[in-house]
Amino acid sequence: MNLFDVYPVNDINIVRASGSDVFDNNGIQYLDMYGGHAVISIGHTHPYWVKAIETQLEQIAFYSNSIKIPLQQELAEKLGRISGKNNYQLFLCNSGAEANENAIKLASFYNNKKKVISFSGAFHGRTSLAVAATDNASISAPVNETENIIFLPFNDEESLEQCFEQHKNEISSVIIEAIQGVGGIKIASESFLKKIRTLCDKYNAIFIADEVQCGYGRTGKFYALDHTGIDADIYTMAKGMGNGFPIGAIIISPKIPSKHFMLGTTFGGNHLACAAAIAVLDVIENEGLIHNAATIGSYLLKELAAIEDLKNVRGKGLMIGFEATNNLKDLRKKLLSDGKIFTGAASPDVVRLLPSLALNKADADHFLSSLKNAIHQLTKEQQKVNTPVNL
Ligand SMILES: Cc1ncc(COP(=O)(O)O)c(C=O)c1O
Repeated sequence: MNLFDVYPVNDINIVRASGSDVFDNNGIQYLDMYGGHAVISIGHTHPYWVKAIETQLEQIAFYSNSIKIPLQQELAEKLGRISGKNNYQLFLCNSGAEANENAIKLASFYNNKKKVISFSGAFHGRTSLAVAATDNASISAPVNETENIIFLPFNDEESLEQCFEQHKNEISSVIIEAIQGVGGIKIASESFLKKIRTLCDKYNAIFIADEVQCGYGRTGKFYALDHTGIDADIYTMAKGMGNGFPIGAIIISPKIPSKHFMLGTTFGGNHLACAAAIAVLDVIENEGLIHNAATIGSYLLKELAAIEDLKNVRGKGLMIGFEATNNLKDLRKKLLSDGKIFTGAASPDVVRLLPSLALNKADADHFLSSLKNAIHQLTKEQQKVNTPVNL
């Protein structure tokens, strides 16, 4: 059987990893500035996390949600304390898309309304409502079409206000990434986020913060929305939560009551996933990784902004995007082939950095010098192509 060919892949076989480094089958070392798509939060194969999973695996890996699983409560308490959202309620699932599906559904159960506001550039996943709320027609199938999603321009307060006014009591929820990831590291303005909060309160709609990519400490605060000082009603999360062990979650404001069977899952909240997620939170706390993300992130942002050939350097913490001034389309390829560094893309022109929150200064410096080198090489190659040959 062949694989269903849905990913354009690099011809590299990664067989081992440690911290911010990954190694291929030929023993070549790469610096992972992509974090396996923002997933590696505490560093690859962190020994504390490995031990926690091993220990749990020897006891029990899975039993269904028909029994008490005390690890879920332990995870809820730790997550509540570290994120400062002790009074919220936790529902565990397996992925980011699933978290968003559950959030949108729960909002609709809560207020008995149907319309969902999403924004240009948004990415919320590939399943039914999540993909319908994603601003990319090419990944949405005809069966995903629904009249319930309304797209509005990102950061446009006036159109948001008009939409609420026009649809009066129809808006069930507003879903937004405080920093858009796949959309190209676009930051929602503080006043836009505050406007969403005000309008959701006014019209009894639910504010859903999609923190699948920008959450879990990545931006130097636990949730990216925390930079504004306002609260969402539901936060969705996944990527960094298990450091590569699949787990997702939503946390739910105390104002939303639960009812048996309104949400459910077979695998969500299983013993092994909880053990992995608890270990992640322990390491985030014990090693001060949110502070590290803020510090190393600010350093990278400052140094990147000083590189002449880059433009639109933006981001928060270790969620950073930038473009190159001069047609340096091949920058990411060059960084990978010559610098042995993985980076992320968003649209053809944006380079995205989403490394482990434990990235150290030496690795940040190594990245910066490799980047300057790659720019220099590409500029030289371009000059060669552009120089007329004297016959
Ligand atoms: C902001 C955001 N939401 C949701 C998702 C979907 O997550 P998953 O791929 O785990 O379903 C992603 C994935 O990239 C994401 O970046």
